Amino acid sequence: CGIVGYIGQGQAAEFLLDGLRRLEYRGYDSSGIATVEDGELDVAKAAGRVEELAALLKMRHHNGSVGIGHTRWATHGPATDINAHPHLGGDQILALVHNGVIENFRAIKDRLIDKGYEFQSATDTEVVAQLLAYELEKVSDETLDSEDPLAPVIQAVQKSLAKLRGTYGLAVIFRDWPHVIVAARLGSPLVIGVGEGENFIASDSSPLAGRTKKIVYLADNEIALVTTDTIRVIHRDSGDVAHDVQTLDIDATEVDLNGFPHYMLKEIYEQPETVRNAMRGRLDKDSATAVFGGLNLTPNQLQSVKRMVLTACGTSWHAALVGEYMIETLARIPVEVEYASELRYRNPPLDDQTLLFALTQSGETIDTLAALREMKRKGHPTMSICNVVGSTIAREADGGIYLHAGQEIGVASTKAFTAQCVVMSLLALYFGRLHHLSYESGLRIIEELERLPDQVERALETNSHARRIAEKYANCNNFLYLGRQYNFPTALEGALKLKEISYIHAEGYPAAEMKHGPIALVDENTPSVFIVPQGAVYDKVLANIEEIKARRGPVIAIVDDDDSRVAELADDVIHIPPVTDFLQPIVASVPLQLLAYHIAIARGCDVDKPRNLAKSVTVE
Ligand code: G6P
Repeated sequence: CGIVGYIGQGQAAEFLLDGLRRLEYRGYDSSGIATVEDGELDVAKAAGRVEELAALLKMRHHNGSVGIGHTRWATHGPATDINAHPHLGGDQILALVHNGVIENFRAIKDRLIDKGYEFQSATDTEVVAQLLAYELEKVSDETLDSEDPLAPVIQAVQKSLAKLRGTYGLAVIFRDWPHVIVAARLGSPLVIGVGEGENFIASDSSPLAGRTKKIVYLADNEIALVTTDTIRVIHRDSGDVAHDVQTLDIDATEVDLNGFPHYMLKEIYEQPETVRNAMRGRLDKDSATAVFGGLNLTPNQLQSVKRMVLTACGTSWHAALVGEYMIETLARIPVEVEYASELRYRNPPLDDQTLLFALTQSGETIDTLAALREMKRKGHPTMSICNVVGSTIAREADGGIYLHAGQEIGVASTKAFTAQCVVMSLLALYFGRLHHLSYESGLRIIEELERLPDQVERALETNSHARRIAEKYANCNNFLYLGRQYNFPTALEGALKLKEISYIHAEGYPAAEMKHGPIALVDENTPSVFIVPQGAVYDKVLANIEEIKARRGPVIAIVDDDDSRVAELADDVIHIPPVTDFLQPIVASVPLQLLAYHIAIARGCDVDKPRNLAKSVTVE
């Protein structure tokens, strides 16, 4: 989601709308703003694109020089005007926007309902607004009489935040304190733009481009009190803390790249965060399982799923293959993976306990949509695993799971792929726990998932090594990518990344199957990229490497940190942190993405917009 805030002399609505437009490239589903003027809060919200809000604002003058705004990604709740932010608290005494997930919102909401608070929306955000209103109304007389006019606000905010579990980036305006915006952060970024006689708040720096280069990054557990010409930062549990003003030296026109030369590289680097986002709020340690808000099936229906069909195109199809291995191993449910373009015309016999999952980053791929419609027509429950909120496939499926990876701009999919693999692992855990998987095994899987973002972060440290290897092999015109078991799909995806953006012919194969044909291609100019972390098939893959070396083929190997055996055989090795076998595709994909990226750069290719491709293919 995106947050903006303005306090100064100008029209707040103008900056807020402009800021929301700049955040919209991420594909949001509803937006809204609130300003404060003449002792009243004025709120405007609209489902749909920011232009819907702009049209609304055209019809009614939205005055005020203090305001906040928001763009929302629905967490499968409908993207309605009511669920859009800002949310009001108490008797319209404050308006609040929020990014993140409040995990204990249900308990807080029940308590507030008991105290007579009424809720308009289904969001966790409104709970924060009402909680803050409640704490404000309870503030003691001494605090109200304090010399510091903001003392009541500070006390109420500190008390409220201490009660929240989960993550938040917040911005709040108050009817009775119209000269301040309060911003607070825990796990969801917020920046303050420092202007001349005006200050700005935003969830990332893109809305600030062209307005100011001076930025204060709010840290976790910090609360900022922002007025027209002051910024005061306090800790959630104590007093004032110092803050640095940093200069943002990014060209305004490039600000969305956050300093990266290409969207693809930026998106590769976002993966520790996007992997985290894909599982945020979805791991339940009490029951040692995954939780999903949007499957829309009864427990009985879920329990009686006997077979799954995963359908997709391109990179999403590779994530489906990873999912097949995960779900069959952990949940013991038979899974088939089908190219969407084939499934549609195959008319396979499916029984009524077959569940269909359509995996799609964009949610608009026409082949995937057509396959989904065909399966729906035949009465099968359909689920989308999708990145773009409100996209056609997400809307037409009976239920689904969003990736929450943020907009993916690079045509070659990177962060959406790893997020899809994470969601697949969550599904495997979920269905496993419905059947034979023990509590202990479920808990172990959760712990492994919790470590994953850090391991992805460490895999990014391979970047400069991957670049050196890329430069060494950039002139080769054929590559093989080889892996087994979970890393067979990893090999397919590695090969696809390379061919998409560098126009080098690359083939992914199960490492052992290579003997049955592709080995004929091997010579000293045809490198083979092996994905060979330790696991059940490690020794077998080692034997496959020997077979390539015996034919003078160069070998690049992705291996565990502590591996020394492969280095004796391979020409080049890239080390990644060791992870449990079913998560290897996620970690191992990172150096493969980097390798493809650097080879494409070395060959002078346009990595973000490769020839002949489109991000979302809406023709058959
Ligand atoms: C296009 C893109 C691929 C993508 C495929 C499926 O071909 O170029 O990168 O994997 O569509 O897209 P989807 O949005 O359905 O995941």
